[in-house]
Amino acid sequence: MNVLIIFDSLHGNTEKVARAISHGISDARVVSVKEASKENISDYELIVCGAPTHGGRPKPEAKAYLDNIPSGALKGKKVAAFDTRAIVEKQNFFLKWLMGIMGFAAPKISKSLKSNDWDLVAESEGFFVEDTKGPYKDGKIERARKWG
Ligand SMILES: Cc1cc2nc3c(=O)[nH]c(=O)nc-3n(C[C@H](O)[C@H](O)[C@H](O)COP(=O)(O)O)c2cc1C
Repeated sequence: MNVLIIFDSLHGNTEKVARAISHGISDARVVSVKEASKENISDYELIVCGAPTHGGRPKPEAKAYLDNIPSGALKGKKVAAFDTRAIVEKQNFFLKWLMGIMGFAAPKISKSLKSNDWDLVAESEGFFVEDTKGPYKDGKIERARKWG
């Protein structure tokens, strides 16, 4: 299956997760959201899109890319979404509450894909980031490969 994985990333964690997901899929191409505009996405059977959670939403560039695809142009195309996010348990009471209210990026990416008549083939998935540099103590990279 021809697979395109599109990621957005500020500090590099989402890119690492995207590459780990690709190791769980045969024949997957991984591109940043900036490079994605050069791709002809109709060449791909499955498109996986991932972004860091910023303010409970996807970092804007990934969402802007998806929103720019003409409505219905890729009807029925198989898609899945993932995000990276902060570890809820490590936040103070206020931030825990805020994160609970604001939610995370991947369900929002999935929702916008679904509303464009794309065919969601997996539940959206979130991967926790310790801080901007990782590390990957929770087996995130291995979990990402399995999710792929
Ligand atoms: C401006 C900003 C806003 C953020 N907002 C949230 C948030 O609302 N919820 C959350 O779980 N993590 C939040 N984070 C943490 C990021 O999700 C985390 O740093 C990101 O997954 C790292 O991915 P990257 O290395 O690919 O940029 C925020 C980080 C930044 C820099």
